[in-house]
Amino acid sequence: MKNTKIAVIGAGNMGAALIKGLVQSRAVAPGSITAADTNKARLSEVKRNFKVKTLTGNTEAARRADVVILSVKPQILDRVLGEIKKSLKKDALILSVAAGYPTAQIERLLGQKPRVVRAMPNIAAAVGMAATALCRGKHARKKELGLAKKIFESCGSVVEVDETLMDAVTGLSGTGPMYVFIIIEALSDAGVKVGLDRHIATRLAVQTVLGAAQMVDKTGQHPIFLKDLVTSPGGTAINALYSMEKTGLRAVLMDAVETATRRSRELGQPFNQG
Ligand SMILES: NC(=O)c1ccc[n+]([C@@H]2O[C@H](COP(=O)([O-])OP(=O)(O)OC[C@H]3O[C@@H](n4cnc5c(N)ncnc54)[C@H](OP(=O)(O)O)[C@@H]3O)[C@@H](O)[C@H]2O)c1
Repeated sequence: MKNTKIAVIGAGNMGAALIKGLVQSRAVAPGSITAADTNKARLSEVKRNFKVKTLTGNTEAARRADVVILSVKPQILDRVLGEIKKSLKKDALILSVAAGYPTAQIERLLGQKPRVVRAMPNIAAAVGMAATALCRGKHARKKELGLAKKIFESCGSVVEVDETLMDAVTGLSGTGPMYVFIIIEALSDAGVKVGLDRHIATRLAVQTVLGAAQMVDKTGQHPIFLKDLVTSPGGTAINALYSMEKTGLRAVLMDAVETATRRSRELGQPFNQG
């Protein structure tokens, strides 16, 4: 994959995060990546930070690419697809991160049986820790899915799902960093409330979230088993748990994910109607 030519169309938050992941993990040589954007300031930034090539023309960027990453807002994707349609290589992988924008719509607008893979990453791609779900379009083969997987593994972990589940993915992990930011902020506030200095409270909250996540990940144990490890009879944890259950923390989180999933479906509605 090192010399695969990749065009990133839209070098904003997500496009730049993906470029950073690809370059810093050394998965792809910076000279093999071309970022295209209408915003010249964004282009200068990615050029300066990651030494990739930059262009203001999407068509020119797409013409040279084995992989075209579409990371513009979904509302302007119809227009961008119309622009690049004629310049795409026949077997190019079209990799879209546009939320709610179906593979069938990309296939319809590009014609010629394009190899489309759709992804829902999250903003933690910026630190190489994204959770990404992939699904493939009608004409993408295992080869393209494998290449898409490698690209997203350069900035986190990857699962494959059916396209019908992409709104659920958006509700859980696409939106997910926000839930955790709020939880960290709330834990930091709680630390201050019980007498800790703000800086120390935030540091402890962040490390606690990192450590707990790593424990679930590295031990492979069910979180409930790990919870049992720290709840000793009559201790602090079981008393805190009782308080959390009374205030319905689980229901709050489940409700938030369900609401975000519903909103993702609503936002995708115009694109699903073709
Ligand atoms: N951010 C996330 O957490 C996240 C998570 C999952 C998926 N996504 C998806 O990623 C995509 C990009 O989101 P984002 O948050 O990165 O948005 P963003 O920061 O606004 O980036 C989009 C970039 O595209 C540029 N642009 C606008 N029109 C263009 C055109 N015709 N051709 C080329 N570039 C153009 C924008 O320039 P201007 O700023 O001048 O308009 C901007 O630099 C979206 O489809 C979103 O659904 C984002």
